[in-house]
Amino acid sequence: MTEIAARGSHIVGLGHYQPERVLTNDELSTLVDTSDEWITTRTGIKTRHIATADETVASMATEAARNALADAGLEPTDISMVIVASTSSTHRSPNAAARVATTLGVGGPAILDINTACSGFEYGVALADQAIRAGAAERVLVVGSEKLSAITDWTDRTTCVLTADGAGAAILEATSGEAKPEVGPVLWGSVPEMLDAIRVDGDPEIFSQEGRTIYRWAITEAAGIARRIVETSGIALADIDVFAFHQANLRIIEPLAEALGATGKIVIRDIVESGNTSAASVPLGLSKAWHRGELPPGSQALLFGFGGGFTYAGQVVRLPRHTPVPQAG
Ligand code: ACO
Repeated sequence: MTEIAARGSHIVGLGHYQPERVLTNDELSTLVDTSDEWITTRTGIKTRHIATADETVASMATEAARNALADAGLEPTDISMVIVASTSSTHRSPNAAARVATTLGVGGPAILDINTACSGFEYGVALADQAIRAGAAERVLVVGSEKLSAITDWTDRTTCVLTADGAGAAILEATSGEAKPEVGPVLWGSVPEMLDAIRVDGDPEIFSQEGRTIYRWAITEAAGIARRIVETSGIALADIDVFAFHQANLRIIEPLAEALGATGKIVIRDIVESGNTSAASVPLGLSKAWHRGELPPGSQALLFGFGGGFTYAGQVVRLPRHTPVPQAG
């Protein structure tokens, strides 16, 4: 008898968008009392992209989504649900997902914004996968998009060297017939003791953080959570090909990769070129590497986000099986 696999989802396209404007460490050193040497050694960041006044969370998300659709060979009308993850969206209502869907011409999908800060994309992938498993959606567009430059205090050298803008998107589609699900179960949660370690508040709303508290947590706790994500997926750590951690800081990414034995594997280090883009950082880094041809089609990737709230979430996914379709921009 043919075994019918449980309904699940798989990723069929990836896309990203970054504003044209690149801000270097040397340029930043003319704005605040800092240096390329300090920023590089403390964070690994060399450059970051900054949006224009006209570029918004929704407009960047739309461009990333357009590129993910092209990569998947799909039309906007093929999508039945749109999820936008962002901590910097100013679009309360209509929400960013509604704006993305309308601009693309998706035509009446379920539309949902979520804000779990730097883990937002992984929460979005989990919700999309669950909606598909429940039979409530066939294809879901999940976007992480941030305009952190708009909530950055550009006179505060402790934060303005970190933050950046951009968007990354993935399309999840229902698996059919005997095909096995390729988006693994989520492991998600939060850390009450870290409630105030990262904040976006005040008037105007500004990003602030307890840098050392976050660093300590990441160094002591993050590897254990990443291991539990992989265990939850039922896949051996040795079978993970690509490690896509939240691009918080290279000084966090490197020890995390080492603790997971990722030496010799592909570790996304887009923080160097793109800075910290919170909910956008994992799909942005993943899509850039995908479209550069650096990630083998069909490889297993660990997605792991953590940040404001204090939240975390992750899952193991298989990357699309096709050769990446070159994206515009
Ligand atoms: N340029 C030069 N000097 C600076 C800068 C800067 N941009 N920022 C701070 N300093 C100075 C401080 O004023 C301080 O000077 P002092 O000793 O005279 O008082 C000195 O450098 C050390 O400051 P610390 O804040 O203690 O610097 P630290 O070595 O902890 O590095 C950092 C700060 C990079 C934020 C670090 O704590 C870290 O990596 N934290 C992790 C947090 C993180 O990655 N956040 C990302 C956003 S949150 C997220 O995505 C999850």
